Amino acid sequence: MTNINSLTTPALLLDRDRMCANIERMARRISARGSRLRPHVKTHKSRQVLADVRRLSENHGITVSTLKEAHYFFDGGERDILYTVGMTPDKVPLAAGLIQEGCELTMVTDNLAMANLLNSAAVSANIVLPILIELDVDGHRSGIVPDGPELLALARTLSAASNLDLRGVMTHAGGSYNCRSLDEIRKHAKLEVDRTMLAVNRLGEEGLECPVVSIGSTPTAAVVDDLSGITEIRPGVYTFGDLFQVGLGTMRIDDIAISILTTVIGHQPEKGWVIVDAGWMALSRDRGTASQRVDQGYGLICSLDGNVMEDVIMGSANQEHGLLMARVSAAPLDLAEFPVGSKWRVLPNHACATAGQYNHYQVISQGSVADEWSRINGW
Ligand SMILES: Cc1ncc(COP(=O)(O)O)c(C=O)c1O
Repeated sequence: MTNINSLTTPALLLDRDRMCANIERMARRISARGSRLRPHVKTHKSRQVLADVRRLSENHGITVSTLKEAHYFFDGGERDILYTVGMTPDKVPLAAGLIQEGCELTMVTDNLAMANLLNSAAVSANIVLPILIELDVDGHRSGIVPDGPELLALARTLSAASNLDLRGVMTHAGGSYNCRSLDEIRKHAKLEVDRTMLAVNRLGEEGLECPVVSIGSTPTAAVVDDLSGITEIRPGVYTFGDLFQVGLGTMRIDDIAISILTTVIGHQPEKGWVIVDAGWMALSRDRGTASQRVDQGYGLICSLDGNVMEDVIMGSANQEHGLLMARVSAAPLDLAEFPVGSKWRVLPNHACATAGQYNHYQVISQGSVADEWSRINGW
């Protein structure tokens, strides 16, 4: 066991006990509602984290955001993988390689033009690609609406294509991130299910079956009640938690499992600032909480043992410098509390973005560094 104080900063800390509690809580919630989890691994991108997810929850495959993740987790033993960024023809040889090695890889599209391009690429690669139609249930991003004419046209094209296999539908209700209360998120979660089932029913009336009905985000998965008809749900951030989820009310501050370790490198006494060696490279540029009721700057400060300093945030950041300051409403910082050389932890706004800045996790257990786990980045 290494003392946290002796780590070189900045470093990405992972509190394994908190993470395991988050994994178990979500697993219980989804299995109690009769659906299955296909966790999104883009948050952690780590085989060691996935091993804990597998140990503590009954998973039905994984969700990935890059084919690099698909390869990495396939090599780690995962066989059932859903890639949820619209598929492109240039990636078909990569996907074909995985499928030929025994991976049950499914991908998504939301338009006819791409469906035709994918079919041609699949013919050239001599492979059949399993495809889900991506639905737009809340105007958040990509996908086609469940009640428009495009749905049936795309479904017919996919099912008639020689080298594509229509397997069902998927959506991600990312609009839930704009909700202002738990009640609003509950309504959003119902909308996600209802709009998805509308598409499934329309396809069913045309004789087009959907063995896969896949939905999910952390906010909606945290509150959804009725999952009738939904075969799988795909939250990702829930493993680590972050300040954005706390702002939404879907997780508690004490659930946040990752933090950035940083060292005080100086003070600006006249301004009441503490300067640390972690800036936006270490935290990411994600300022998501700026749109929430409580703006957490670039992150919320905690002591090494995890005690949150409610009124101290990283209020500003340069590439490798962070400025710790009092919230606007709070009394100025007592600089004596932050001596030069002292170490602090910063809770992040967005777990996926912050973890994505690192190649390793320093795994913390009972206040010490118990292990170092690896993760991947890039495409
Ligand atoms: C397609 C898709 N599914 C699932 C998720 C997981 O949602 P969350 O990040 O809220 O856990 C995401 C996140 O961006 C996503 O894009």
